[in-house]
Amino acid sequence: MAKKRISGLEIGISEQDRQDICEGLSHLLADTYTLYLTTHNFHWNVTGPQFNTLHTMFMTQYTELWNAVDPIAERIRALGFPAPGSYAAFKKLGSLPDAPDEPPRAEEMVARLVRGHEQVAAKAREGFRLTDAANDQPSADLLTQRMDIHEKTAWMLRALLAK
Ligand SMILES: [Fe+2]
Repeated sequence: MAKKRISGLEIGISEQDRQDICEGLSHLLADTYTLYLTTHNFHWNVTGPQFNTLHTMFMTQYTELWNAVDPIAERIRALGFPAPGSYAAFKKLGSLPDAPDEPPRAEEMVARLVRGHEQVAAKAREGFRLTDAANDQPSADLLTQRMDIHEKTAWMLRALLAK
């Protein structure tokens, strides 16, 4: 990440800690954005007898993800670093796969989203350790909220796959 020191940012967290936390938040932002786009893609392309349920459920989920990227990016700004916001940057920072070119069957969509939410929850948990050690409560709070929603969403999607 580019080092762009913002003078006067004296909030009781060292520059190194802020930079490390922002790196974690940038990875989370990229993965959240990718999961948002994949969920919206699946909202458009889902087919089959569960169409209505999944089309509607995916809309609720992509809306939540879309709303989540803003506070993550703005926390990075509040910590004094630039927020990434391009496909090139997200590709570099992200660890989630892109949506497949060919829309998969409905069950495979759900399974992919379960994995996506689990991975993003794990990413948020990884970042949390840094925020806790650096005494950065607002970032810790944001990451706690993200873990909670991703774990809950993963459960709801997983429940659809039960036989
Ligand atoms: Fe729609």
